Amino acid sequence: MKIITTVSETHSEMNKVKELGKKIVIVPTMGYLHDGHLSLLNHAKELGDVVISTLFVNPKQFGPNEDYDKYPRDFERDRNLLEKTGCDYLFYPEVSEMYGEHFSTQISLGGITKILEGVTRPTHYDGVALIVLKLFNITKCDVGIFGQKDYQQFMVIQKMVNDLNLDIQLVMAPIIRENNGLAMSSRNRFLSQEEFTQAAILNKSLIAAKEKILGGMRKRNEINKFITKSLLTSSLIKIDYVETVIDFTFVLMDEFHSGDRIVILLACWFGTTRLIDNIIIQL
Ligand code: PAJ
Repeated sequence: MKIITTVSETHSEMNKVKELGKKIVIVPTMGYLHDGHLSLLNHAKELGDVVISTLFVNPKQFGPNEDYDKYPRDFERDRNLLEKTGCDYLFYPEVSEMYGEHFSTQISLGGITKILEGVTRPTHYDGVALIVLKLFNITKCDVGIFGQKDYQQFMVIQKMVNDLNLDIQLVMAPIIRENNGLAMSSRNRFLSQEEFTQAAILNKSLIAAKEKILGGMRKRNEINKFITKSLLTSSLIKIDYVETVIDFTFVLMDEFHSGDRIVILLACWFGTTRLIDNIIIQL
C-alpha cells in the first residue's frame, strides 16, 4: 500500500491510474478503523480496480463543543489494518495540507442537512460535504463507498453529487455490528462496559419496531413512541431524537403506506458518548 500525504502527489498518482483506464474507488474514513470500515474496503475491491482509502479527522465537521481533540487516533494500527485488507493507496494528509492558511470556501447544502443530526449538529454536514467534495476531487475517484450506519450522511453526499453534477457513483454498504447488535463505531471505545451492554437497546428497538410496522403499525407518531418507550427501558440512555422518514427524501408523513420505503433514524447519549443507528424498511 502506498501512503501519500500531499494533494499534488495524489493527483499525479491518480492521473497515472486513470491513463491505464482503471476505475478508482474511494473509501473515506476518519480512522481508528473497525470491521465496519474494513467491510467498505472489501466492497471497494469488488467495485473497481484501484482502492484509495483516506484517513483524515476533519476539523470542519466537528462543532465547537464536540470531540475533535478527543477523537480516537492510531495511525500505525490503521495502516496495518489497511495493508492487510489489500488497500492500494492511503491518503493521509495533515490539516494544513487540506485547509491552508487562506482557505475560506464553504459549502451549504440546506435541505436535509438541517434536520435530525443537523438540529444537534448544525454545521456538521456542511463540513462533511466540503471534505468529501475535496477528497473526490483530489482522488479523481469514479466510485465512493459510504456506510448505511451514517444514513443521513450518505443522503447528504448523494444530494451534493446530484446537485453539483459530479460524475461519481455512490454505493451504500450495510451496517456492521458488534455481537450484541450495537453498530460498530470508533466512538464505542468511550463506552463503559455497562453502557456498551445497555447500548444494545438501539438495535433491539429498531428490530422490534420493524416487526410492529410489518405487522400493521403505520402511524409515524405511534412508531416513534413505540421506539422511544423501548429505548427508555435502558436506565443510562438519553434520547436525542427518534424519527421515521421516507427513504431518500426524508419526507415526514403522518402515516405510511404499502410500497413506501421508510427509514427509522435515532441518536442517543450514553454518558458523554453519542450513538446513532437506523433501519430501512420496505412496506
Ligand atoms: P467515519 O466515521 O470514520 O466513517 C467512515 C465510513 O465508514 C463512513 O462511510 C461510515 O458510514 C462507515 N461506517 C462507520 N461505521 C460503520 C459500520 N458499523 N458499518 C458499516 N460502515 C460503517 O463518516 C466519516 O468517517 C466521515 O464523516 C467522512 C465521510 C470520512 C468525512 O470526514
